[in-house]
Amino acid sequence: MRPGAVKGTYDILPEDQPRWRALFETAARVLGRAGVEEITTPVFEHREVFDKSVGDSADLVVQKEMYTFQDRGGRWLTLRPEFTAGVLRAFIEHGMHTRPLPVKLWSAGPAFRAENVQRGRFRQFHQVNCELVGGGSALLDAEAIALLVDVFAALGLPGVHVKVGSVGDPDDRERYNAYLREVLSPQREQLSETSRERLRLNPLRLLDSKDESDQMLLAPLHRPLDLLGPEARAHFDEVTAALGSWGVPFEVDRSIVRGLDYYRRTAFEVHHAGIGAQSALGGGGRYDGLLANLGGPDLPGIGWAFGVERVLDALHGEGAELGEREQTLAYLVPLDPEAVPEVARLARTLRAEHRIEHGYVARNPGKGLRDADRSGARLAVLRGSRERAASAVVVKDLRSGEQVSVALDDLPAHLRAVAGRPVSEGTATTSGGLAR
Ligand code: HAM
Repeated sequence: MRPGAVKGTYDILPEDQPRWRALFETAARVLGRAGVEEITTPVFEHREVFDKSVGDSADLVVQKEMYTFQDRGGRWLTLRPEFTAGVLRAFIEHGMHTRPLPVKLWSAGPAFRAENVQRGRFRQFHQVNCELVGGGSALLDAEAIALLVDVFAALGLPGVHVKVGSVGDPDDRERYNAYLREVLSPQREQLSETSRERLRLNPLRLLDSKDESDQMLLAPLHRPLDLLGPEARAHFDEVTAALGSWGVPFEVDRSIVRGLDYYRRTAFEVHHAGIGAQSALGGGGRYDGLLANLGGPDLPGIGWAFGVERVLDALHGEGAELGEREQTLAYLVPLDPEAVPEVARLARTLRAEHRIEHGYVARNPGKGLRDADRSGARLAVLRGSRERAASAVVVKDLRSGEQVSVALDDLPAHLRAVAGRPVSEGTATTSGGLAR
């Protein structure tokens, strides 16, 4: 059997790379202007890093979804299912709490979850992640949300819906969980199997159930936002007031529950209707207490991540394409064996300014021009015995068909002039081209 890509993973082909690069560059630019700096952490960590954060026994789903394995030294390692835990591990390890707070960090790269594969849900996927660590002010929550919205705006993505809610402080969560247990325990048998398990371990997650009969039972119940304590409520009101005054469009979501368990107070998600059932482009929230949980100083923080595949899917659906592939300006065709090393050398010098490709074997003019055409180049540059005798090359514009003889010494200036003209104008040339 010939092995293919592992289920839930895929290749990003050359033609798709410019979109990916443009997305990362846009995110870097928008975040950089807000003083967010890039940090790169390993794709795997000691399993405790995730066990102590995302995978607390409460959240059975993430536990099961982690790729955890033992290496040859017997160490238990986990491929990151998300970035937050690893970034905070690095924050602690490098004593970043001594830097001016908040420390603002963004990252991008692959993450891994052993999920049921479907549209927008992969086993290796990519995130752009942002953490603002060491600030408890509601203004920082608003800034985090606004930054996520700004990145989508800079990408040119219309139709995003921002939902903001609060899961409250730990006491509020306890109280809410107790409330759900009290109300739902007598109806336990009517709940789906997953929801019964959640009722036991982490009732809040019940709100996430996609099961219709679960949702019927939940419909009349209070939502976390209805039962917030006074402090969490005041914090939430400040966040929404700041967003309102900045003109960031959002809606309040009373029942927002995030899949990960470390959130406190503010939780938010950004959705897009055009990407199917997995409509969340990104999400995040405040995670006061998590840093201390991981063995660091007791500093608050807030952050988010978005899924790169889902955002590119949404952009594609909106007809908003991103990033252009650089076009090859010239493809150099060797017309005899002697010209092969000549064009190779010529390509090396011309590449200082342009994207240049060349043939590696001698071709007759017909085949050489076809090679040039298939490379997508704007110009074919032909070199053979006749051109050698004249210390020249023949330059053919592959759109207009015009061709001219250009002295080798004049070639750089000629290419610069063509590169400076829009593609549609063709190559206006002096006459006297060698017809081939
Ligand atoms: P999350 O909601 O688990 O949050 O993931 C964020 C985004 O990653 C999702 O909205 C989705 O677009 C994308 N995503 C998640 N799983 C998959 C998958 N299997 N396939 C494709 N895309 C996926 C977090 O990861 C938190 N660490 C965010 C955060 C940062 N909170 C605080 N700081």
